[in-house]
Amino acid sequence: IFGFNKMFMYSKSCTLAVAVFTAVLGSLQYGYSLGVINAPQKVIEKNYGRSLGVWSEKADVLSENSTEEEEFSEAGQHPDVIMYWSLSVAIFSIGGMLSSFLVGFVGDLRGRVKGMLMVNVLAVAAGLLMGLCMMWKPHIMVISGRAVMGFYCGLTSGLVPMYIGEIAPKAYRGALGTLHQLAIVIGILISQVIGLDFILGNDDMWPLLLGLSGAPAVLQSFLLPLCPESPRYLYILQGKEQEARKSKNYTQQLSMSSFFCKPYIYSIYIRSSVYRQQLIVALMMHLSQQLSGINGIFYYSTAIFARAGVAQPVYATIGVGVINTIFTMVSVALVDKAGRRTLTLVGLGGMCCCAIAMTVGLKFQSDYSWMSYVSMSAIFLFVSFFEIGPGPIPWFIVAELFSQGPRPAAIALAGCCNWTSNFIIGMTFQYIQTWLDCYVFILFAVLLLGFTVFTYLRVPETKGKTFEEIAAVFHKGRKKSAQSPKAAELQQLKTSTDA
Ligand code: GLC
Repeated sequence: IFGFNKMFMYSKSCTLAVAVFTAVLGSLQYGYSLGVINAPQKVIEKNYGRSLGVWSEKADVLSENSTEEEEFSEAGQHPDVIMYWSLSVAIFSIGGMLSSFLVGFVGDLRGRVKGMLMVNVLAVAAGLLMGLCMMWKPHIMVISGRAVMGFYCGLTSGLVPMYIGEIAPKAYRGALGTLHQLAIVIGILISQVIGLDFILGNDDMWPLLLGLSGAPAVLQSFLLPLCPESPRYLYILQGKEQEARKSKNYTQQLSMSSFFCKPYIYSIYIRSSVYRQQLIVALMMHLSQQLSGINGIFYYSTAIFARAGVAQPVYATIGVGVINTIFTMVSVALVDKAGRRTLTLVGLGGMCCCAIAMTVGLKFQSDYSWMSYVSMSAIFLFVSFFEIGPGPIPWFIVAELFSQGPRPAAIALAGCCNWTSNFIIGMTFQYIQTWLDCYVFILFAVLLLGFTVFTYLRVPETKGKTFEEIAAVFHKGRKKSAQSPKAAELQQLKTSTDA
């Protein structure tokens, strides 16, 4: 009996490991796509310039002795190239912003596993568009590929944490949920390393570098059929068995109607006081992740490393990627022991101090050369604190904060908030930097302080609690609202979608 029991437990753990590994291949792809565009920027600009006829014109004007570096920058400065390049970067977030809103629909349509399988078509199509970009106009092909990839990533960044949150045992839900972020940072790191010019970030290989962003989807498609469907999703279907018998097309009808009713359902959840507290916490945690300025750091670090006299700032940026990965691993180890709330508080508070240190470093950099090292250390610490809590936790805590019925809608709203704020920071950081100069991080320090106070006052600990226990934390004050007409409307909605 013991032997059988052990074998049973072993096979259950194996299934869980395979399922989580398979799911986070989607996160890996998201991280790879986030990072891949940075290292080969100049090479891609040169190719855009060539296909737009800009680079060849410039090449004629440039003297025979001009270096390749000069030729690259000539092409990169052309307004058309700048425009197409900026679009290649930004369209990824626009795709994500649009699709993140559909996470609930895709997850509920045929289940989480089939949802992840279906959306892989997008990733493969995007990979092919970018990988084969030299066959037609590379700028058009890459922009289309990035848009489709962004659309895919918006879906996967919601589907993966939702699936993992639903299959993970309570005691490991934090650690397994953090694997989503771990795969993202590994993806960023891989793209930074293979994007080096002597590997794939060169004139011949860059289409392959971009095209490879679709590769994990191929592997994931083979593995997904081996993964169990989320038991909580099945429970919904089983809960509807009676009704399903009445109508053979039940699931399809539910899915189609939920697609058309989605904005209505979301608006009810937003307006309802029943879920308001959870929703505010979920949205604030995603806002704190993005408005911490982390993605600004990724852009700014190269400039600071260059100013600090690092000969190859690209290697220092890879150093940031390595720190990123190490501290996400630390978070995996700690999150189910120290708890989500503590790690978020430590992370946000630490980032706030680092933002102040960076400002001091930048301000006095010209007076004392060693101040560059203060800025550099502050950057490394800023990233470390981010990965301890504010990076990974928002992604999976939304699944923990909501019960089965509103979960997909909540994940969709939180994801949309994340992608939108990411896009806003991406678009405005340069301008804020020009405006505030060395005080740019003071702005983030103030925001971080605000988010730290919010977390202290409003974010409950979810470690080791069942979804029902977590819901009970927010139960206070609900009874009053349960009498309101809006609550009755919500209750009706819950009866048809909850389990
Ligand atoms: C999180 C953020 C993402 C950021 C990454 C950095 O996943 O959502 O925007 O680039 O962390 O590690």
